[in-house]
Amino acid sequence: MFKAIFRVVSLAVLAVSTQAAALSSASGSNNRICPAPYPSSTPAYPPYPSSSYYPTSTAYPNSGRSLVSRQSSGSNDTLTFNGADWIWRDELGSDGEAVPGVRGFRKIFNPPSGKIPSKLEIAFAVDDIATLFVNGEEIGTTYHWFGASSYCVPLSPGSNTIAFNATNSDTFPRSHVALLVTGIVTYTDGTTSRIVSDLSWRVSASLPSGWEQPGFDDSSWEAVISEGTYPTQDPDNYGTVSIAGVDPLSYAQAHWIWTSENPVTLGARALRRTLDLPPGNTNASGQVLIVADDEYSLYVNGHFVGTGTAFPTVQRFNISSIQGPNVVIAVYAVNTMPTQAGVLAAIQITSFDPYSCVANCTSEIFVPTDGFWKVSTNVTSGFEQPGFDDSAWAFATEDGTGASRAPTAPGNGLSPAGTPLPGAPAGN
Ligand SMILES: *[C@@H]1O[C@H](CO)[C@@H](O)[C@H](O)[C@H]1NC(C)=O
Ligand SMILES: *[C@@H]1O[C@H](CO)[C@@H](O)[C@H](O)[C@H]1NC(C)=O
Ligand SMILES: *[C@@H]1O[C@H](CO)[C@@H](O)[C@H](O)[C@H]1NC(C)=O
Ligand SMILES: *[C@@H]1O[C@H](CO)[C@@H](O)[C@H](O)[C@H]1NC(C)=O
Ligand SMILES: *[C@@H]1O[C@H](CO)[C@@H](O)[C@H](O)[C@H]1NC(C)=O
Ligand SMILES: *[C@@H]1O[C@H](CO)[C@@H](O)[C@H](O)[C@H]1NC(C)=O
Repeated sequence: MFKAIFRVVSLAVLAVSTQAAALSSASGSNNRICPAPYPSSTPAYPPYPSSSYYPTSTAYPNSGRSLVSRQSSGSNDTLTFNGADWIWRDELGSDGEAVPGVRGFRKIFNPPSGKIPSKLEIAFAVDDIATLFVNGEEIGTTYHWFGASSYCVPLSPGSNTIAFNATNSDTFPRSHVALLVTGIVTYTDGTTSRIVSDLSWRVSASLPSGWEQPGFDDSSWEAVISEGTYPTQDPDNYGTVSIAGVDPLSYAQAHWIWTSENPVTLGARALRRTLDLPPGNTNASGQVLIVADDEYSLYVNGHFVGTGTAFPTVQRFNISSIQGPNVVIAVYAVNTMPTQAGVLAAIQITSFDPYSCVANCTSEIFVPTDGFWKVSTNVTSGFEQPGFDDSAWAFATEDGTGASRAPTAPGNGLSPAGTPLPGAPAGN
């Protein structure tokens, strides 16, 4: 019941992570030389010393779980959190509460003998914020426990290192903290296996330089604890976590956002959200569900997408030909009636690396409206363009979710784009 609050206290962390992610995203190179296919006779890489690496669950009394039960039944080919553990470090503050701060998590994946990993599809949810690194490369950041982005990452032929830094930014009583991960490894022979967050993962409260790199020695790191296994044992009624690319796009857990004005006044406001595609991903498309109380025009990377004046009915748009590596979503929103104002949206950005050596490797980023969006009462010319600097803008104020202040659901068809509202940018 406290989960709606956590975003508001996490804003400084976001500012840092967005900037760092922008610096590290690289566009693809058409000079890339893909490795020749590995012959099936390629010798297996030496296995990681599993006896010293994997802890036994009995050493961690809080977990009360064995490793045996966590292989999920069913297909390995569809991402699901079933059987994954909500994990964290075994710690409580002197007040008996979760401890704010950043924690590092590591999992080294060694392929079975004779198998050569090709790609990893991975989804994660977190309370509050986590950034994924694969083999030392920053892949993406998630800001929600309720909706997981899913990423597809090429793997190295032998051992692979999955790492997260996750931040608990809550300082209020009875705050919650947990990381949930699921992944599918595809081998060059087309077979697959699962990786989930479980007691074999390692955690540390100190992150020395290089902690996310493959060669880092994590032998002194602690084993994680399980706070419960998805979906039946749940640390705090987190409920179902949707996975982008697997589950339908939903605005139920997105937040209505606006400026901090109280009471709200009539007129136009500007909103922006910037995200980085995973490394090498430059080509993208998108799906959007959006509604404004009362009217809006939507832009992606400066291009006009659509206008809505049908509050409380949600509109649905598909967007093609989005060019990364950064994506800027901008909304010109107008409050035309007193007492309430807001924008509610759920957006999914599908991207891939056009020069990748790995086939069918798309990532799906889930972007709900929330307190990580930027807002301004100063609707400046060009605010919808990617190059616009919104660093001086305030973070949005959240006011209820799509489930609590439910709008009218859209139909299955796409909404007509219409034309930009009077006073809204023309876009390009
Ligand atoms: C994780 O580390 C990266 C790189 O140092 C940083 O940009 C990001 O803010 C961190 N994320 C979290 C959730 O701590
Ligand atoms: C699914 O993955 C598990 C290990 O994660 C493996 O033991 C099992 O054989 C796989 N099942 C199939 C059908 O590939
Ligand atoms: C919109 O995009 C989604 C995802 O790519 C697709 O499943 C759907 O068919 C598209 N809708 C239309 C009407 O093109
Ligand atoms: C990626 O986008 C660029 C620029 O729009 C386009 O020229 C190229 O054909 C796209 N590649 C693929 C594989 O769609
Ligand atoms: C990529 O996906 C398409 C559609 O699902 C499938 O027909 C094709 O075989 C896949 N390609 C590879 C190399 O897996
Ligand atoms: C509005 O934004 C523009 C550009 O960022 C800035 O030059 C101007 O001073 C701002 N006006 C107000 C009233 O804040």
